[in-house]
Amino acid sequence: MTKLRVAVIGAGGIGGTHLRAYAAWPDLCEIVGVADVDLAAAQARATEYNTTAFADYQVMLNAVQPDAVSICTPPKLHLPIALDVAQRKIACLCEKPPARTVAETEAIVAAFEEAGAILQFAFCHRFHEPVRQVQELIGQGKLGRVVQIYNRFGFRFDRAATSWFTDPDMAGGGILIDTLVHSIDIFRALAGEVVHVDAAVSTTLPVQVEDSASLQVVSASGVIGSLNCSWVTPVSEAEFRVWGTEGEAIIDYAASGGARYRLAGDAEWTTLPAQAPDRFVLQAAHFLSCVRHQQRPKVSGADGIAVMRVIEAAYRAARQRALLSV
Ligand SMILES: NC(=O)c1ccc[n+]([C@@H]2O[C@H](COP(=O)([O-])OP(=O)(O)OC[C@H]3O[C@@H](n4cnc5c(N)ncnc54)[C@H](O)[C@@H]3O)[C@@H](O)[C@H]2O)c1
Repeated sequence: MTKLRVAVIGAGGIGGTHLRAYAAWPDLCEIVGVADVDLAAAQARATEYNTTAFADYQVMLNAVQPDAVSICTPPKLHLPIALDVAQRKIACLCEKPPARTVAETEAIVAAFEEAGAILQFAFCHRFHEPVRQVQELIGQGKLGRVVQIYNRFGFRFDRAATSWFTDPDMAGGGILIDTLVHSIDIFRALAGEVVHVDAAVSTTLPVQVEDSASLQVVSASGVIGSLNCSWVTPVSEAEFRVWGTEGEAIIDYAASGGARYRLAGDAEWTTLPAQAPDRFVLQAAHFLSCVRHQQRPKVSGADGIAVMRVIEAAYRAARQRALLSV
């Protein structure tokens, strides 16, 4: 079997993670290039992964003709680069957030549909083993009917104020679109489609975007979610808690094992074993498999649009709240 030829556009933090994930599957793919407008950054990654560096992603695509690419640039660049990649009928793993708006996301999805090329949005938490374990517990009915979900992704993001992450034009917003986008995706995976959203945001740093956000969401089946993220709280916490009529489950990203759960009448928590590779490595494997077999990824374009609809509704709700409180 010939190996898929993969390339990475954007050699920053997550670009390095995509390269590491592809490098974990040497029998499935060959890394044929990495591009970054910062050529030194591309060169450093190229040296690490024994590939070729480019300063211009279009030059790279012309030169190496990859089967698949990862888009790992700031969100403003997702749309123009994705349209270019789709036009060339190259499969694409596009980082989150899908883009800055629903309209941009819809344009990306339409371009790949028209081209008949594979598009996967990099909602990596879908591949996190404890998330998959709790999905299974819910699917097996072990927790009974799911009633409430709580999530917190909180940490201190030191470079927020001085990076593109707080430039509204580059990022499309602040922590809501950057980090809470994962929370919404995980909530949808556990509870189904979001039909109601209320939101509050606040800004502590001297920046133009929100650096803390709390959403209350309700799924079509009536599950209530409380999703909370902050870039300014120094004690790092990343967790999901799921309560059902028969028990509770916890996804604690700091814990060493898998998900843990406790059913009605249980004296102790049961911790599931964690055996799988990390979520980025599994995400890459799924993407490569979809490209190889021309199958629709389990994180599809439709998922990207659905998540961005919740994001936009949340920003609208937060603005209305601000008006009412004046
Ligand atoms: N899935 C996750 O858990 C996760 C984690 C971090 C970041 N991300 C996402 O990944 C994307 C990149 O984030 P990051 O943390 O790697 O940012 P970063 O700033 O570390 O890296 C971005 C890189 O893109 C490069 N770049 C900018 N314009 C370019 C262009 N036209 N062509 C090629 N390269 C270009 C920059 O020079 C930079 O090196 C964002 O969408 C972000 O939200 C996802």
